[in-house]
Amino acid sequence: MIPDSFIQELLGRIDIVDVIERYVPLKKTGANFTACCPFHSEKTPSFSVSPAKQFYHCFGCGVSGSAIGFLMQYSGTGFVEAVEELALSVGLPVPRQIEARRQDAAKKAPLSEFMARASRYYRDQLKASPRAVDYLKRRGLSGEVAARFGLGYAPDGWQNLQQIFPDYQARELAECGLVIDNEQGRRYDRFRDRIVFPILDQRGNVIGFGGRVIDQGEPKYLNSPETPLFEKGRELYGLPQARQAIRGGDCVIVVEGYMDVVALAQHGIANAVATLGTATTGNHLHKLLRLAEKVVFCFDGDSAGRKAAWRALEASLEPLSDGKSVGFVFLPPEHDPDSFVRSQGAEAFQQLAAQPTTLTEFLLRELCSQVDLTSGEGRSRLVHEAKPHLTRLAAPLLRLQLVKQIATASGLSQAEVEAQCGLKPASPGRAPPPRPRARPRARSVENRLLENVLRRPERAARIPVELLVGDSHEGAALRAIADAVDHGALGSGGVGPLLEHFRNSEHEATLARFAEALAAEEVDEAVLEEEFSDALESLRRSGLSLAIQALNEKGKRQALSAEERESLKALLAQKSGASPRREP
Ligand code: UTP
Ligand code: MN
Repeated sequence: MIPDSFIQELLGRIDIVDVIERYVPLKKTGANFTACCPFHSEKTPSFSVSPAKQFYHCFGCGVSGSAIGFLMQYSGTGFVEAVEELALSVGLPVPRQIEARRQDAAKKAPLSEFMARASRYYRDQLKASPRAVDYLKRRGLSGEVAARFGLGYAPDGWQNLQQIFPDYQARELAECGLVIDNEQGRRYDRFRDRIVFPILDQRGNVIGFGGRVIDQGEPKYLNSPETPLFEKGRELYGLPQARQAIRGGDCVIVVEGYMDVVALAQHGIANAVATLGTATTGNHLHKLLRLAEKVVFCFDGDSAGRKAAWRALEASLEPLSDGKSVGFVFLPPEHDPDSFVRSQGAEAFQQLAAQPTTLTEFLLRELCSQVDLTSGEGRSRLVHEAKPHLTRLAAPLLRLQLVKQIATASGLSQAEVEAQCGLKPASPGRAPPPRPRARPRARSVENRLLENVLRRPERAARIPVELLVGDSHEGAALRAIADAVDHGALGSGGVGPLLEHFRNSEHEATLARFAEALAAEEVDEAVLEEEFSDALESLRRSGLSLAIQALNEKGKRQALSAEERESLKALLAQKSGASPRREP
């Protein structure tokens, strides 16, 4: 756990405008900054960043949050990673687990520099090689798409990189995998006479290369080894280039090859990424499901492709949640996405991708194909085979669907399948709470106070929390905010830091809902203060009456303690003081 005090200090040091500006060009409009929303496609800007609130909000698609939330949404990184990145960017002395990462980043920086330089060199060499250019043209690629993916060419020869790295013996060159040291201690370039595909991380740094032979040769692809920069199970080829399109359509297509990604982009299908010659991992899935609602795997039509699809299915079971979907497109056996889109066209591909086999269909189909459903033994084996998958499938509704289908196929009842697989019977469950209106028609005093406090958290200190007697979410959130302010747990500055303080707490959803409504309007400071005083006044009046009433009632049933009598007296005194006095 990163201490909350650290988060608050961090958010106090950074400016959300600087952070977002690194990724999205912002324009100043009045007190705020605006841009076209990076999270959905639009022509006129509805994405707004408020420096005062340290908060961003899109009026188009409704996303909102703090600088940390922005990084998480934009890069699909986890909370800790986002915090670490921000801390590094302002040189904030970081708690221990982050310190380790800082050292790691310091170690990586020079390596990134080497990779960037090599990438520039390869790009230049491509321009100088008619043979390489001709190869890419024959594969249907335009110069524009080649440039978009930074494609390059590593010329033939053993030590070409010496031209750009005068210290060819530098340790870093081997560490980032650009050269290989043989057993005799002789060093040579890893990529020779190959088309190179630079692999980028989230921020667009080159972290590795894939190198393809021109025409025939073995191995067909040679890749960068795993290095401090490059961890294959985490990275996806083409992600930075695809991000916008993924957000726009809320769908990401996952293919196997570099060429598939590039060819799809060439045909206007820009939301494709590739795993890097490795099986799809849970980590990949987490990343993808954070970026899009729909993940569609489209692997080669051959048997290797089908195996890869099955592994992707297995990796999806845990990360998948209800409301998100994972689907599979199976191409004709002779095709991969590249050859398919080139021979059949973009529209045919889009049609397939729009109607993928669902995860439950694919799972059931595979399992059923392995057993003989005409025999009792076969049907019980189906349940047996399904069990490990069912237990790993974390999304309750999807699991329920699957249980039902397996029940039908196996001739058992739903309850029997659940019992056999050791699953908790699917209970009707609590329905998700209805989404409240941004501004309820009759706003309770808690609502009014909460809206106000979200604009100026420090005001929470003025709320007599003992009068918040109801058990509403808003009241609970107010008590929690007041408590945090009392304990100095909230740094100064806006709703962004406040939301971060309550991330993962029971108040998160309530606060997010209010914060969203609040982004929609700017209110004058004087008006806010007046509203706040009014709300406090109502709270005092209704709260006092309620508290007095409670004590009075108790007094009827039993004798009040000395303490209770004292507080009743104090409450009564307060009430007469708080009630509107009439001028004589
Ligand atoms: P494929 O063999 O399907 O190649 O490998 P491809 O993407 O269709 O490429 P082209 O069309 O023949 O040029 C799919 C992916 O598997 C990895 C690469 O990441 C490749 O893009 N691979 C393949 C290797 O790493 N090494 C190899 O020798 C072959
Ligand atoms: Mn291919």
